[in-house]
Amino acid sequence: MSQPEPPTIASDGLPARPTGAWVHDKKYYLERYLSIFTRGVGPKWNGKLSYVDLFSGPGRSIIRQTAEEVEGSPFVALNCEFAKYVFVDVPDVIDSLQVRLGRHAKLPHVSLIRGDCNEVIDAVRAAAPADHLTLAFVDPTGLQIRFRTIQRLVQDRKVDLLMTIQFGMGIRMNLRQYSQSESNALTSFMGNDSWRTDVEDGGSPSLIGHRILSRYMAQLRQLGYETVQNREIAVRSDQNNLLLYFIVLASRHPRGQDFWRKITQIGPSGQRHLNW
Ligand SMILES: C[S@@+](CC[C@H](N)C(=O)[O-])C[C@H]1O[C@@H](n2cnc3c(N)ncnc32)[C@H](O)[C@@H]1O
Repeated sequence: MSQPEPPTIASDGLPARPTGAWVHDKKYYLERYLSIFTRGVGPKWNGKLSYVDLFSGPGRSIIRQTAEEVEGSPFVALNCEFAKYVFVDVPDVIDSLQVRLGRHAKLPHVSLIRGDCNEVIDAVRAAAPADHLTLAFVDPTGLQIRFRTIQRLVQDRKVDLLMTIQFGMGIRMNLRQYSQSESNALTSFMGNDSWRTDVEDGGSPSLIGHRILSRYMAQLRQLGYETVQNREIAVRSDQNNLLLYFIVLASRHPRGQDFWRKITQIGPSGQRHLNW
């Protein structure tokens, strides 16, 4: 897999993530979902809602082509009414986020966890109260999230998952490489190597990638999750229209799926949703 790009310095003097204009699409769906979720279920849960961001980033992105600065997911979440926020990333990135948070009014409700989210998942569980309804945002750059980590995160807890699934760089582009290697990121991502059957069944990398994605969704269903069919949001590169990732909402409760259906009816540029 490609090496991560070094951070760029933003106008506040702190490191930010270099990215593409598609980051606006991700932010659009995240903002809308967190807003409908907190307003919709907050009263019923007496405000006992937690937000867990397993790949939080430093709190700001910079669009490469335009140098526009875009608020990162931790700040999007802090604008919504959660009782607890847990932000996880590698140490350098959390250091930047911590400085950027400064004396934010919600700081007493924030836990910052430094490390590989797969390794620190028990610390994440300890930071998010067990009796809360949790919304976990899982937004890696590739296949860093192990299926075992998802299983542990949701074990005996009420957790909804909002995930970006890196179809482009994560699954499709690297299939050849994955087929050659025995122990690899795709096996950890899936939690098993049954995806090899999808490769053996043949076809284009894109077709194989879609089969693997369906397998992933089926595994989420085995954990009791439903995803809203045909409402995976495809996010494409603004430069060559290449499929980068899908945004998927997985919930164990029909309410979560209703929320997702609602907020995905209209896309970021005002277009009505069509089944794709
Ligand atoms: C796509 S960015 C997250 C962007 C952020 N969610 C936002 O919307 O502003 C992915 C982040 O994952 C972090 N990362 C990569 N591997 C990780 C791992 N194993 N555990 C925790 N964080 C990781 C990277 O440092 C990077 O900041």
